[in-house]
Amino acid sequence: MKEASPRTIYLKDYRPPAFLIERTELRFALGEDSTQVESRLRLRRNPAAATPAAPLVLDGEDLELLSVRLDGRDLAPGEWVQDAESLTLANVPDAFVLEIVNRIKPQENTRLEGLYKSSGNFCTQCEAEGFRCMTYYIDRPDVMSVFTTTVVGEQARYPVLLSNGNPVEKGVLDDGQHFVTWHDPHPKPSYLFALVAGNLSCLEDSYKTASGREVALRIYVEPHNIDKCDHAMASLKKAMRWDEQRFGLEYDLDIFMIVAVDDFNMGAMENKGLNVFNSKLLLARPDTATDLDYERIEGVIAHEYFHNWTGNRVTCRDWFQLSLKEGLTVFRDQSFTAEVTAGTVKRIDDVRMLRSRQFVEDAGPMAHPVRPPSYMEINNFYTVTVYEKGAEVVRMYETLLGREGFRRGMDLYFERHDGHAVTTDDFLAAMADANGEDLSQFQRWYEQAGTPRVTVEDAWDAASGRYTLTLRQSCPATPGQPEKRPFLIPVAVGLLDAQGRDMPLRLAAEAQAAGTTRVLRLTEAEQQWVFEGLVERPLPSLNRGFSAPVRVSYPYTETQLAFLAAHDADAFNRWDAGEQLATRVLLGLIADIQAGREPALPERFLTAFAAVLTDAGLEAAVKAEMLMLPSENWLAEQMDVIDPDAIHAARSYARRALAGELEAQWLGLYHTHEVSGEYRFDPRDAGRRRLRNLALSYLAALDGKPMRQLAASQFEQADNMTDSLGALAALMLIDGAEREQALATFYDHWRNDPLVLDKWFALQASAQRPDTLARVEQLMQNPAFSIRTPNRVYSLIGAFAGNPTGFHAADGSGYRFIGAQVETLNALNPQVAARMVGVFTRWRRYDAGRQAQMRAELERLQGLDLSRDVYEIVSKSLQ
Ligand code: PHE
Ligand code: ZN
Repeated sequence: MKEASPRTIYLKDYRPPAFLIERTELRFALGEDSTQVESRLRLRRNPAAATPAAPLVLDGEDLELLSVRLDGRDLAPGEWVQDAESLTLANVPDAFVLEIVNRIKPQENTRLEGLYKSSGNFCTQCEAEGFRCMTYYIDRPDVMSVFTTTVVGEQARYPVLLSNGNPVEKGVLDDGQHFVTWHDPHPKPSYLFALVAGNLSCLEDSYKTASGREVALRIYVEPHNIDKCDHAMASLKKAMRWDEQRFGLEYDLDIFMIVAVDDFNMGAMENKGLNVFNSKLLLARPDTATDLDYERIEGVIAHEYFHNWTGNRVTCRDWFQLSLKEGLTVFRDQSFTAEVTAGTVKRIDDVRMLRSRQFVEDAGPMAHPVRPPSYMEINNFYTVTVYEKGAEVVRMYETLLGREGFRRGMDLYFERHDGHAVTTDDFLAAMADANGEDLSQFQRWYEQAGTPRVTVEDAWDAASGRYTLTLRQSCPATPGQPEKRPFLIPVAVGLLDAQGRDMPLRLAAEAQAAGTTRVLRLTEAEQQWVFEGLVERPLPSLNRGFSAPVRVSYPYTETQLAFLAAHDADAFNRWDAGEQLATRVLLGLIADIQAGREPALPERFLTAFAAVLTDAGLEAAVKAEMLMLPSENWLAEQMDVIDPDAIHAARSYARRALAGELEAQWLGLYHTHEVSGEYRFDPRDAGRRRLRNLALSYLAALDGKPMRQLAASQFEQADNMTDSLGALAALMLIDGAEREQALATFYDHWRNDPLVLDKWFALQASAQRPDTLARVEQLMQNPAFSIRTPNRVYSLIGAFAGNPTGFHAADGSGYRFIGAQVETLNALNPQVAARMVGVFTRWRRYDAGRQAQMRAELERLQGLDLSRDVYEIVSKSLQ
């Protein structure tokens, strides 16, 4: 059994640090056996600290301590106290210099936190608490220091030596060693520190800022990847320009560097002046990366770059404030992508993801507010709630205050807090003060977990032309929060007339109609709005553009949903109405299948679907969004007891029916949307490819030789990864020799490109076929697979965990398989293990048989010697 369970850390226990570190000088001597770290810290007592005589406590884990000197005097081992997580020195002066020498073993680091090796190169990952795995330090974000870092390494193996800031000195030493010293003038918390050493090639460019400063841009990759960096570089320059234009924010150092590494737990990291990226979010060439990869790379490059202001210049006081930087920066990258591509499609994708993942998290045992009140392991709180719901919360300021008001708030935020570590309260205060608004109720978005529900009722009085909307809000209980107080919810509303046109809106007591979309501020449990001067009963379009991250319910008929899907002036709501209609239809089919009835697609749905399919006025990318059926996960979320088999059967039935009824139209679409000329990543071409591949995937549902040949010939002729993978994905849906042949061809061609093979792994692991688990087990033996590389784990094991009929196979085989992988990963890489165990959290939503099996697996895991990361999720799931 597990010994003591990990401690919980509470926001309410926050105290300012007892000491500050004014200067940090580091020297890393990189070695093949071990690495020696020497640090020289200039410390002083924090005048704002609560306890004036507190001892100095430094964080440190797995460090071999060699020596400690205080103001030039060697301390004897009795003068400090060391335990597994800290080094304590009692009776230190108010200001002093501390020198520490210690040794670490990066080569043995499989957790990928702190200093580790990837493909023979050294790199670091310090957020959130990785710095303490390299040397003793006050490893918390409100301790900001000026860093000077010397990196020493063997010249032949590690010709490139990088750290934050600007290089100030370099030289050659004895024994083939060389060194570079870097100085970063901007005080920063330790989590933004980075070091990279290796044999890397560099793509160079430069950027002139709005005020005319020249910035050197460098992207470092392994030499064989140098031809895959152009898109990342172009994205970086685009993002730099956008941040100047939209927020008046310029880059602040002479060099901006990005390094791609193959072994990385997360997506990318915003270390000051030296971003480190998971190579899958940086490398792209038309034949190796899909349109979706290109889009994500552009978005993540922008995200990390934007952190330079929202995260680095203004950082977080403590890790409970994580959304201060992440929610805000996601909002900024979403706005960037929306403005440089087709905005509606980006919004739909973001909302789809929020609903299918964040709403689910919010309804489960790991539900937490955007600002969590406590945690066991901070790495478990890099969640869709902190990131994506956090971004929605920031978006609501903009909805409430307007674009200019939001900008005023941002300007004041930087004016007040540049160079400081602050809280989400400070952000709210800047937004409120810059606009003379009282936003105190808005605070609840940070404090209360759960997805609010807004129920809408309407009444029409023909005689007076008055239309009354009654909005009621509620929010389900979440762990530790049985009762919720009302939120301030901005609900954007429009009213459609019988022709589907927006009506001008005049609220009671207003002299004139103004605009056709109004943002209603719902602040009470129940509130009414009366619209006047209407000549006919309107149909409401609610929460336009998804103005608030809530579930809205209004008793629409299917006819009304189809009408909104065809006419709503708000393009997002047009899609959403179609999505609601499709959800309803699919839930009906699921019920039919469960009851043993013959399923049948309602005629009305087919007509509405066909109208979209043949609408010549719709942009290809938007059309593709509208023709995609709701995901199995989203459908599962709508059921009281989730039935993965019935969901899959119903959705497959619907796909086959829509393909069969509209075969000619799909083929027409397929043939008219070919993209001619060389591959270019631009929204228009990408939209066409997306629609064409969607058509192919529907057609694949028809089985049969002609469709196999269509997909096979696209596979053979494709000159870009989007079309190649689109064809392969379609072939995966059809039995026949073509499928295995294409898989083999793909493998042979890409056997030396791990990132492309990840796509091949993922496709096979997500196939909803009876033999998928056996296939996954066999693929784990493939030489290209390694359980130590997170990208491989995510693409093979992670894809299987996300495969609803694979993971939830009724015999429990999927549960046992993933449980076993979690057990292995727990010992190697707790962060990755914690991500894999997440699929078990929702066990209570399934039938008794599945519940028992999932629960048994969770209990088995709980009995093991677990990392903090996995323990927290397992124990909270079982509570
Ligand atoms: N801060 C990174 C981001 O921009 C995410 C990250 C967190 C990366 C922790 C590594 C470790 O979102
Ligand atoms: Zn981020």
